[in-house]
Amino acid sequence: MSYGLLRGKKGIITGALDEKSIAWHVALRAYEEGAQILLTNAPVALRLGQPQALAEKLNAPLIPADLTQIPDIEKLYDEALRHFGGPVDFVLHSVGMSPNIRKGKSYPEIDYDFYQKTLDVSAISFHKMLQVGRRKGAFARGGSIVALSYIAAQRVFPKYGDMSDAKALLESIARMFGYFLGKELGVRVNIVSQSPTPTTAGTGIAGFEAMFDYANKMSPLGNASAAACADFVVALFSDLTRSVTMQTLYHDGGFSMMGIAEELLG
Ligand code: NAI
Repeated sequence: MSYGLLRGKKGIITGALDEKSIAWHVALRAYEEGAQILLTNAPVALRLGQPQALAEKLNAPLIPADLTQIPDIEKLYDEALRHFGGPVDFVLHSVGMSPNIRKGKSYPEIDYDFYQKTLDVSAISFHKMLQVGRRKGAFARGGSIVALSYIAAQRVFPKYGDMSDAKALLESIARMFGYFLGKELGVRVNIVSQSPTPTTAGTGIAGFEAMFDYANKMSPLGNASAAACADFVVALFSDLTRSVTMQTLYHDGGFSMMGIAEELLG
C-alpha cells in the first residue's frame, strides 16, 4: 500500500545487489511511495546483471561507483545532479564488506591491510559520500540520509569480527556529520540497526543461521525482515520524521532491549 510519503522526492540508493538486498527492498518501497530513484553499485556487482533489472523496473539510472573512490563518488553526484536537475532529498548507504571475514580470520588475528579495506568499504565510504555530496551541493535542504548498521557495533558478536569496528565507526560518522549537515542544511543523518537478514553480506558471516535463530527467539516481535526495514527507512526519508537526526535506531523486533527470552530458559 502506498501513502505517497515520498511524492516529489529524489534519492540515491546504494548497494542493491539482488532481490535479497536490504537496499533492493528500500528502492522498491521508495519508488512505490512516489520517489524518483538513482541506483548505484560497485562496478563488479553490476556485471552480475540483477541491478540492471531493478533499474529497468524503477526507470532509474544505474551508475557504477566504487564508494571507496572519491572520483567515482564525484561522478555519481554529477550524474545525480544532472539527472534530477538539482540536489537529492535522500541517500541510502547500504554497503558492507570485510576481507577478514571472507578469509575466515578471527578478530584477534585480523590482517591489517584487510582491516583497512573493511573500514574503508563499510564505514569511511559513508564519510566520503557525505563529504563529496556536501561539497557538490548535492543535498537538498531538509533531506534525509540513512546508513545501515548491526548491533555488533555495541555488543560482542564474536564472528562479526572487524565489521563490529566498522559499524561502530559508521555510527559515529552519522552522529558527527549529522551535526554539521543539520546545522548547515537541516539534513538528517540516521543509522538503522537492523536484525540479522538473509542477504549475501549477512549469510557471509560464519554462524549466520545460529545468530538469526537466536535473535529471532530473543526478539518479542521476531526478527525484522528486509521488507519491514524498507518501510522504516522510507519513513525516515519522509517528512514525518523531520526532527529525528544523529540517532542509531534499532529496527530489530525488540532484540536490543532484551536480557533473555523465556524460550531460551530451557
Ligand atoms: P548485500 O550483500 O545485498 O549488500 C551489500 C552491498 O554492498 C552489495 O550490493 C555490494 O555490491 C555493495 N558493495 C560492497 N563493496 C562496495 C564498494 N566498494 N562500493 C560500492 N558498493 C559496494 O547485503 P545487505 O545485508 O543488504 O547489506 C546492506 C547493509 O546492511 C550493509 O551495510 C550491511 O552491513 C547492513 N546490515 C546487514 C544485516 C544482515 O544481517 N544482512 C544486518 C544489519 C546490517
